[in-house]
Amino acid sequence: MYTIGVIGGDGIGPEVTREALRALEAAARIFGFETRLVDYPFGADHYLKTKELMSPTALSEMRSMDALFLGAIGDPRLPIGVLERGIVGECRFGLDLFVNLRPIKLFSEHLCPLKDTKPEDLDILVVRENTEDVYTGIGGFLKKGTPDEVALQEMIYTRKGVERVIRYAFEACRKRAKNKKLTLCDKANAVAAHDLWRRTFEEVGASYPDIQRDYAYVDAMCMWMVKNPETFDTVVTTNMFGDIITDLGAMLQGGLGIAAGGNIHPGRVSMFEPIHGSAPKYKGKNVANPLAAINAMAMLLDHLGLAAAAAAVEGAVRTLLVSKRIPSLGADSGLKTDQIGGMVLDELARATARGK
Ligand code: IPM
Ligand code: MG
Repeated sequence: MYTIGVIGGDGIGPEVTREALRALEAAARIFGFETRLVDYPFGADHYLKTKELMSPTALSEMRSMDALFLGAIGDPRLPIGVLERGIVGECRFGLDLFVNLRPIKLFSEHLCPLKDTKPEDLDILVVRENTEDVYTGIGGFLKKGTPDEVALQEMIYTRKGVERVIRYAFEACRKRAKNKKLTLCDKANAVAAHDLWRRTFEEVGASYPDIQRDYAYVDAMCMWMVKNPETFDTVVTTNMFGDIITDLGAMLQGGLGIAAGGNIHPGRVSMFEPIHGSAPKYKGKNVANPLAAINAMAMLLDHLGLAAAAAAVEGAVRTLLVSKRIPSLGADSGLKTDQIGGMVLDELARATARGK
């Protein structure tokens, strides 16, 4: 029995979450496990009604759960960042989810905007630091609104914070069946503080002689991801650079309609989400592609140790994309959100019946 906290959130969040939960339910039936869902109403509507971002007990409740699922957060009725920092940030920081794990993999050749790129050419695991950097909220304004205004936001890295995510990345790289190369993506040539990342990478890396250490400045990283994506295996990077390069990665996979990620603290409750935002203009229209959310659910299953269930869900998504039954990933695919969710369920049932 697994207890899973669910925040559907804003915009298309609840719609794509519904489809991910249907996939979860089907996987539970097929693979013989049980789930108990705890629904949280957090998001713009809840905030506008109650002035509360998260309930005071939410984080402590979540700590004793097995996993969390988040749809999407963000709403144009509120000032930029209030919900994002108050809900997504609060969960990441409050639960100390220091790894943001974002696989960039191509499910089917026709989805990639790069010429002649095959699934085996695009399979990068990005390990994004998730609790430090400019996201910590240390900063402020001086003489706000005047011509002399100063705006300050600190890029904070701690030895502990850097070390734990780098160690996680070396371990993750070791587990992958690829070429055992870990790339540190930073900007050490301009940002002196990134020297801490370099030194820590060297020191931790010394205990991983089987893994090749590689380096890319973030600007060059963007270039290489487009030019030679096949040269990357696992990448470890700062919070902000990880945010940016994984949107680029999502487009290489075919779009935000498919990219998923996990906010992880090994051994503790972790939170899984599609990388896309709340896409307010598509809210309630039943047109958003739920595959990113369904892939995030597959990552959640994998994290729970349900590897066969995770592989089956991801396999169903892959089959539907490769066969072009789901031809594209945008809201203009001609398929409805619940229809795509239904296709995944059918494929899951078909594939597992065949496997038995
Ligand atoms: C992401 C998002 C968030 C981030 C926003 C919503 C604060 O872009 O998860 O990539 O910057 O981390
Ligand atoms: Mg982002």
